[in-house]
Amino acid sequence: MQWNLFFVVALFGVCVLGQDSSNGTDAENSTQVYNEEDEYTYPCEDTSDIVCVRSFFMSFFQCIAARFDDRQPIYRVSQTVHIPIANVTINTHKDVITFNGSKVEKLYYNPVTSSVVMTVSFKTLKIETGTAYYSISQVGKVPVTAEDTVTVNYENVWLTAVIALSNKLDMRNAKVSAYNYNARPSFSMGPELGNSSNPVVQSAIQAIHDNLPTAVQEIFLTEAYSYFIAYMQSHICYYGILLSG
Ligand SMILES: *[C@@H]1O[C@H](CO)[C@@H](O)[C@H](O)[C@H]1NC(C)=O
Ligand SMILES: *[C@@H]1O[C@H](CO)[C@@H](O)[C@H](O)[C@H]1NC(C)=O
Ligand SMILES: *[C@@H]1O[C@H](CO)[C@@H](O)[C@H](O)[C@H]1NC(C)=O
Ligand SMILES: *[C@@H]1O[C@H](CO)[C@@H](O)[C@H](O)[C@H]1NC(C)=O
Ligand SMILES: *[C@@H]1O[C@H](CO)[C@@H](O)[C@H](O)[C@H]1NC(C)=O
Repeated sequence: MQWNLFFVVALFGVCVLGQDSSNGTDAENSTQVYNEEDEYTYPCEDTSDIVCVRSFFMSFFQCIAARFDDRQPIYRVSQTVHIPIANVTINTHKDVITFNGSKVEKLYYNPVTSSVVMTVSFKTLKIETGTAYYSISQVGKVPVTAEDTVTVNYENVWLTAVIALSNKLDMRNAKVSAYNYNARPSFSMGPELGNSSNPVVQSAIQAIHDNLPTAVQEIFLTEAYSYFIAYMQSHICYYGILLSG
């Protein structure tokens, strides 16, 4: 309830501001430079107060409180990632995501863009795929395929989501960007690929290892949305969004 009130105040405040600045006389002489950040409103003074963060999202009446802690496994149905540097596409199924050391770094409402912005950081973020279907593209031929698993343990990663807010909070279409501090995290592909006698498979695996920072970046940026939604729905509030991409 209290956050609904907060939004009424926030939105009303914007209307008043808008009227003021529509009359140029004062603004012309103003020594203050317009700064969009001055208009942000912060629902939680302390973003590490997870109860406050939860009640903020729950105030939109669209989600169910989530109670997961770090280190509890979260299931992801599927995910497709492209690794162009190695001509590889990987389609994974029944993956397990494990967060550790998660922290909400920022949470604010930007009335100029009508969106809620949230940044979360993780000390580690581990992904263990179920079956990973590799598809290695070939010029003018059908792709070569292979199956295995992939395990990546990202370290010190940040996700920032911009979530549009009109009359509802559009969590499903959140725009998620990411930063991964360790370009060479522990990255292992299961044993099957390494044993493959197919030279196309061998050279694709070699290309991934030879270009690991680029491959990791490509994969992580693609997966960022699923990680953010996984965190949101396990730690903060559940929206019924299937982790499938
Ligand atoms: C804008 O400024 C003009 C001139 O100072 C004034 O006459 C007018 O009432 C102002 N309009 C608003 C909406 O404040
Ligand atoms: C702007 O400030 C100057 C100096 O302080 C003053 O002379 C001038 O009348 C002001 N102009 C407006 C539009 O307020
Ligand atoms: C990717 O495919 C292109 C076109 O066949 C080829 O030139 C390139 O060497 C391949 N890259 C790798 C890493 O195999
Ligand atoms: C998770 O983080 C805590 C402290 O931040 C650390 O003690 C623990 O070993 C970590 N666990 C895993 C599985 O990484
Ligand atoms: C692949 O090699 C590993 C050892 O590197 C071995 O344990 C495994 O059984 C092999 N798998 C196949 C299908 O040959």
